[in-house]
Order: sequence, then structure tokens, then C-alpha cells
Amino acid sequence: MSIIDEIRSKAKSLNKTIILPESQDTRVLEAAQELIKNKIVKVILIGEADKIKKDAQDNGINLDGAEIISVNDPRYKDAFAQKYYELRKTKGVNLDDAKKAMQNSIFFAAMLVKEEIADGYVAGSIATTGDTLRPALQIIRTAPGIKTVSSYFLMVVPDNSFGVNGSLLFADCAIVPDPNAEQLAEIAVCTAQNCKKLLGADPKVAMLAFSTKGSAKHESVDKVIEATEIVKKTQPEIAVDGEIQFDAAIIPSVGKKKAPGSPLEGQANVLIFPDLNSGNIAYKAVQRLAKAEAIGPVVQGIAKPVNDLSRGCSVSDIVNTVAITALAT
Ligand code: ACO
Repeated sequence: MSIIDEIRSKAKSLNKTIILPESQDTRVLEAAQELIKNKIVKVILIGEADKIKKDAQDNGINLDGAEIISVNDPRYKDAFAQKYYELRKTKGVNLDDAKKAMQNSIFFAAMLVKEEIADGYVAGSIATTGDTLRPALQIIRTAPGIKTVSSYFLMVVPDNSFGVNGSLLFADCAIVPDPNAEQLAEIAVCTAQNCKKLLGADPKVAMLAFSTKGSAKHESVDKVIEATEIVKKTQPEIAVDGEIQFDAAIIPSVGKKKAPGSPLEGQANVLIFPDLNSGNIAYKAVQRLAKAEAIGPVVQGIAKPVNDLSRGCSVSDIVNTVAITALAT
């Protein structure tokens, strides 16, 4: 079974409810159809039932089994505006602002998740990353003990000698533009935990830089060294090493030469990039040049699972992201 099939099948056994707020996108409706048909999750679409059903019919999509909730549903409309106002009034939000925010399908979805009417939401086929995640950051907030929300990509490369049968986690490639050492350490720890959860493997975490063990000096490298020390100190059970270059992290013979005695042994399965420029560029480079499958960004550190799609996503990207979201609940 491929890792994707495994994820879909695990999600099926959990029977979770995931919201797709961007019902104006035909790809979302197609994904909803596939999710329902294959019983991967229960689906809630946000929007006006008449319009959604007509769009589905016009495109030959069967949405039987999907629940549709309008942002004007009297069960939620005023209560959600009041709740949002209470949550954000210290930030200068008044009740009118709150009513407006709750007309936005992604803010509304975040409130449905906060109120435990659904388990999570997936958006971003139309909205930007910021507009997809801001409602979750404001309403659902971070998970207990977590300060920094970040993300990882599950990269599945054709050469299965890398990582766990070709699967590796890359982080952070989508959210935190320039993490400090403490934030970088938190990104590493969250991603290591998700490696265990998703791939069932003990994480081997590489804290990447353009230097291996002092081969170059720069303040950006010092940040990686400091982050590595924080991970070692706070989570001594995690196999972590840094600062280390990409090749020394994933090629055993190079690891032996550049980082002898490293607990990674050139077989890292969790790759932590020093900032968003390097992480975002690396995942796209590996995806395109190595013909890897890039699944994500999978958001980590929010109290409930919420995920962001790429605006160029396919129907199967949406289905896979929803399945991963169900697993994280
Ligand atoms: N972790 C924890 N809390 C956070 C984080 C974070 N990473 N970011 C913001 N917050 C908090 C804020 O402090 C704020 O708290 P408050 O309500 O107590 O004031 C709350 O969350 C809401 O924050 P906003 O200021 O409304 O949100 P912001 O405008 O900072 O947006 C975002 C956050 C969207 C994650 C931003 O950092 C961002 O745009 N990151 C880059 C995203 C991007 O463009 N990625 C590249 C493309 S993705 C791809 O290629 C796959």
C-alpha cells in the first residue's frame, strides 16, 4: 500500500467530520464527492444549499451525504458573531466587525471547529495561506504548550532508499518566515512528533544549514546550532543533529565523512530548514526536479487540525489533505 493509500485508509477508520468552506470552487465539490463516496470523512460545505446543489448538478457532481451550512444559519449566525466579538474585543474588534467576519466562510468554519461541530477544516484552493490560517490562529489558537504554529510537507521521493521508504518530512516550508532559535527548535520537535504519528518511524531530525559541524561560521548558522541545543536539552529522546548540510543529512557516506558519529548516520527522515526561504525553495525544487509527491503544507501546533491548500491544487490534493487533516484530530 502506498503511503497515500495508508493515510486515506487510516482516515476512513476514524470517521471524522471535516469542513470545506470554499464551496464556490468546483474542485472542492468534486473532492467532497470523492470523500463521501469513499467514506474517508464526513463533509460539511459552507454556503447556500440551492447554489451549491445547482453548481454540483451543472458539473455532474453528486453531493448526496454532504451537509451544507449557510453562514446565515440562525442556529449560528448571531451566537458566532457574539463569540468572535468576545474573543477579539481586546484587539479592537466591535460587534459589527464580528458580524462581518462571520460572513466569511473560513472564519465561520473556524468557529464551527472551535465549537466542536466539526473536527477540522481545509481551505486555500481560493484563499491565500494568510487568509486560510488567520481565522484558525485567531479563533482556535495554538495547542496546549505550543507557541509557534508551523507546517511540514510529506515528501514522497521515487528513490525509496531515502527516509522511510522514500517518505520524508520537510519543515517549515509555508508559515514562519524567519524563526528564531526557540521557534526553530519548536518546529523541529512538532515535526519529529508528526513523523512518528504519520510514518510510524522514529524521527531522525537534521537541523539544516550551509555548514556542517563548524565548517563555516555565520550568525544564521549560530541560530541553527542554538536551536539544535534546545531540542537536545528539552527532548533528549529525539535523535537530532545540527548544524548539518543537506547531503551529510541524507547520504550515509557523506554523513560519515562530514559528521562522523552523528546519530543521523546520513539517514535523516525529518529535515528542518533554517527559514522559510530555504524551506519553501527546497520543497518545490525536490518536488519538480526529483518528481517527488509533495503533500502539504500540513499545519502543526493549532489546537484543532486546519490545513491550507495550494491554489493550484488538484482534486486528489484536496482529498489527500482532508485525509491527513482527519488523522491529526
Ligand atoms: N504561531 C503562533 N501564533 C501566530 C503565528 C504563528 N506562526 N502567526 C501569527 N500568530 C498569532 C498572532 O500573534 C496573533 O495573535 P493575537 O491574536 O494574540 O494578536 C494571531 O495569531 C493572529 O495573527 P495575525 O496577525 O492576524 O496573522 P498574521 O497576519 O501574522 O498571519 C500568517 C499569520 C498567515 C501565518 C503569516 O505569518 C504568513 O502570512 N506567513 C507566510 C505564509 C506564506 O505566504 N507562505 C508561503 C506560501 S505557502 C506555500 O508555498 C505552500
